[in-house]
Amino acid sequence: MHTYPLVFFLHVLAATVWTGGHLVLAFTVLPRALRARDPEVLLAFESGFERIGMPALLVQVVSGLWLAHTLVPDVAAWFTASNPPARLIACKLALLAITVLTALDARLRIIPRLSAQTLPALAHRVYLVTLVSVLFVLVGVSFRGGLLA
Ligand code: HEM
Repeated sequence: MHTYPLVFFLHVLAATVWTGGHLVLAFTVLPRALRARDPEVLLAFESGFERIGMPALLVQVVSGLWLAHTLVPDVAAWFTASNPPARLIACKLALLAITVLTALDARLRIIPRLSAQTLPALAHRVYLVTLVSVLFVLVGVSFRGGLLA
């Protein structure tokens, strides 16, 4: 009976970890790594954050899909964006696609060859994923009449 509030709570808790962690990374750790031209600063943060950040993203996706299906049970409507909540769900899915593609690109193409020279390329991807993580929150709060409603 209280499933929705519980899943919603887990969704928001995981959002604090995912978005908060990326803001700390983008505004404190990354500038330090770029100033020192030292990828190790970034990798040290990444290896700790990954342990909580990746499960948080997984919780986010599973709980998000469950919330979306409860709000708009017709999954086809998510892709035609035919009503306001379905439009917000479509935005969430687009943001998820950008996040996954950017993370895969960083993990497979840049991190294996990370050096002082390739650090700025990784920084661009970190900034993009951080911006998208904030947009996730902006779209999320709009379901209940936030800025985009
Ligand atoms: C890292 C990814 C994500 C973040 C940071 C995030 C964040 C948020 C936040 C902050 C809220 C608003 C809570 C409130 O109203 O107080 C929310 C709501 C919501 N999110 Fe996400 N979200 C993410 C991914 C997803 C995904 C992948 C989906 C699935 C399509 C999704 C579906 C929803 C839905 C349906 C709501 C509205 C629930 C309601 O108002 O009852 N989210 N999200």
